[in-house]
Amino acid sequence: MTKPNWFDTRIEDALLAHNSPDDEQGYFVYQLDALKDHLEQLQQQDVIKLWFAVKANPLSKIIQTLDSANFNFDVASAGELAQVLAQGISPARILNTGPAKSKKQLKAFVKLGVKTFVVESLNQLTWLNEVITEQTLTEQGKVERPTVLLRVQLQWPDGEKNPLGGNSLTPFGLSVEEWQNVQVTDYPNLDICGLHIFQWGNMLSNEKMYSLWGQMVAPLTSLANDMGMKLKILDLGGGLGIDYLNEGKQLSWQQIIADLADIKAQSGVEELWLELGRFAVAECGYYVVPVVDRKVNYAQEQLVLAAGINHIIRPAITDQPFPVTLLRSSAAPSQAFDIHGPLCTSMDKLGHLTLPNDVTVDDKLVFGYCGAYGFTESMPFFLCHQLAAEYVFQAGALVEIRAALPATSYLA
Ligand SMILES: Cc1ncc(COP(=O)(O)O)c(C=O)c1O
Repeated sequence: MTKPNWFDTRIEDALLAHNSPDDEQGYFVYQLDALKDHLEQLQQQDVIKLWFAVKANPLSKIIQTLDSANFNFDVASAGELAQVLAQGISPARILNTGPAKSKKQLKAFVKLGVKTFVVESLNQLTWLNEVITEQTLTEQGKVERPTVLLRVQLQWPDGEKNPLGGNSLTPFGLSVEEWQNVQVTDYPNLDICGLHIFQWGNMLSNEKMYSLWGQMVAPLTSLANDMGMKLKILDLGGGLGIDYLNEGKQLSWQQIIADLADIKAQSGVEELWLELGRFAVAECGYYVVPVVDRKVNYAQEQLVLAAGINHIIRPAITDQPFPVTLLRSSAAPSQAFDIHGPLCTSMDKLGHLTLPNDVTVDDKLVFGYCGAYGFTESMPFFLCHQLAAEYVFQAGALVEIRAALPATSYLA
């Protein structure tokens, strides 16, 4: 079986040689040299300001690699902020998104030097304005006004063609109707100069993406106008896709740049921002896990792995498996297996995927595209299994960044 195109064969020998007893329940590896090359390629343009959505992968080495490629950072919690600051990154390069910002959190972020906020409710807007007023009073001098973008959630009236495909209501941002009650001059301590919109996920078609972005321009520019806002910044979130299902679909970055240059001109903004998650880091990550059992059940071949959704939950919540390959080489013909983890729930399934039919107990499987929404998006505590280690592969060597931890480390 030849290695799939998502597998960087430069890491193969290191994975084959890695036999640490501590990692017998599965571990993550991130190929940092490949990540660096990819990020540098994304930066070869002057159309978009790029941010990294830290939620996709908050490992220190990943953040440092993004920093070295001049990315800025989108944080959505105090924990993410602390992790980015701990890498020595200036708060001036940090943006705060997320629907659960209390006044206390806003105050703490401002105190730590964060100057850019995506505001998602009327309360957040009022609180941030109050925080700056209070800070101005205590510091007895003019405090710099933070840059504020308002997050908009669009819906299309019944019967009208909806480019988003559905009108599901989320807590992310507010409708045009709600924001229309705001006049930016009512918030003198804030520089409200941008809009943020992001209501799509894992897009794999340039045409669809462009059409979607294009349909956002009119409602957003008209909203800015109604609010008395000079629209300087448009943030189109993330959502650029990864071909998890190997459908042969891939976004062209060059086309995205050309399309966004067009959107920028249409909307008349000075800056266009994206906060990339999976498109930045998914490809650099691998998850390696041993096979614990193989059996035939009602004529279906099943593999049971040492870990499943306790380490990588995404397949269960999106119904999209990560692609898999056998670590060793095999000339055996392929067949489809149901691949399960160790948890006592039928949700613990990593997919119905093809592998060589001589796969056996103690073989190791490698899952691809695990650089985003892997380790920190899992459910590690159920059944008291081990937390997975995280390694980086850099300059030809595998280096452990976070060791595996047994259940005794978190059970009280
Ligand atoms: C506000 C915001 N921006 C960007 C992203 C990154 O999305 P993606 O991984 O699809 O690029 C997310 C993900 O949830 C998000 O919530």
